Amino acid sequence: MEIQTVGVAGCGLMGSGIAEVAAKAGCAVVVREVDEAALQAGRGRLEKSLARAVSRGKLDASERDEALARTTFTTELGDFAECDLVVEAIVEVLEAKKALFSQLDSICPAGAVLASNTSSLPITDLAAATSRPDRFVGLHFFNPVPVMKLVEVVRTIATSDETFDAAFAFSKSVGKTPIAARDNSGFVVNLLLVPYMLDAIRQLERGVASVEDIDKAMTLGCGYPMGPFTLCDFVGIDTLHKIAEIMFDEYREERYAPPPLLRRLVAMGRFGRKKGAGFYDWTKEGPVPLKL
Ligand code: CAA
Ligand code: NAD
Repeated sequence: MEIQTVGVAGCGLMGSGIAEVAAKAGCAVVVREVDEAALQAGRGRLEKSLARAVSRGKLDASERDEALARTTFTTELGDFAECDLVVEAIVEVLEAKKALFSQLDSICPAGAVLASNTSSLPITDLAAATSRPDRFVGLHFFNPVPVMKLVEVVRTIATSDETFDAAFAFSKSVGKTPIAARDNSGFVVNLLLVPYMLDAIRQLERGVASVEDIDKAMTLGCGYPMGPFTLCDFVGIDTLHKIAEIMFDEYREERYAPPPLLRRLVAMGRFGRKKGAGFYDWTKEGPVPLKL
């Protein structure tokens, strides 16, 4: 099964990155957002990332232009009708994803593979919303997609070998290193990473140190590329909150429970770097830690 035309549903932080790596790898890409404003914001994100690659000498201007020429931006779901693969990267909400996959199931060719980039929802629950669970797989990319090498390829008990192999090969073809993961909520990385981020928030609530000092501790003490609060802002406070709720619901273990401070940030719309504020103010040179 060869994947030449790729649909990407949602062009937020992750969708724009997935579209970018697929277009750079030579696929025809169809990107769909809910409305014109979200579509233009997503297109802007993709173009900014390509411009960054050009300025860093990783991509020629002509390769950037070719990648953009291969990418179609739309608000019409019907434009996925010719896709060999559709990767879903919309909000981390079960009902929203199920509704989308049920529509994709009737729009996409019978042989097309449907994939979700979900961080925490069981792939089986999404596959069950379609008539093609054999051609359904998890393709979990990491943020920022153009930089992070890993893709977790997740199969359910219904995923066919052909589908899994095609998804694995596709991940390689866009320059990633795939691993096979079982369909448990959080797969491999988030099982370990999410409790770490939530625990950092709990330690902050206990007053062990400031946001800035906890971040310094983990970067300078452990060599992590960014501290836990920078990472929370980077992932998205709203997304992390949804992930924690889903994983807590699944496992009923305290380490996945969303801490009260995370809920407060969501209530205040402090969704992290993408909205300019989370634990930090991202509109200033810095970033600058905010009052909590
Ligand atoms: N898009 C494209 N390229 C980017 C980028 C972006 N958003 N951010 C950084 N880069 C590139 C830069 O161009 C640069 O490339 P070169 O070295 O080739 O020039 C390289 O990445 C390093 O960037 P910087 O020097 O600007 O910054 P840095 O050294 O601090 O690295 C980082 C930035 C790669 C993001 C690094 O801080 C990092 O690895 N952070 C941890 C990221 C992480 O843990 N991601 C996983 C999140 S969890 C998840 O994704 C799963 C989930 O389900 C929630
Ligand atoms: P985001 O908030 O940046 O973007 C989500 C986008 O989906 C928005 O632009 C929104 O307009 C759009 N959207 C909502 N409903 C839609 C629909 N029905 N059709 C098309 N678009 C729709 O979120 P994100 O960080 O890109 O996360 C997307 C998915 O990827 C989530 O499932 C998340 O858990 C997962 N994920 C996130 C990260 C991360 O670090 N942020 C990493 C890996 C996986």
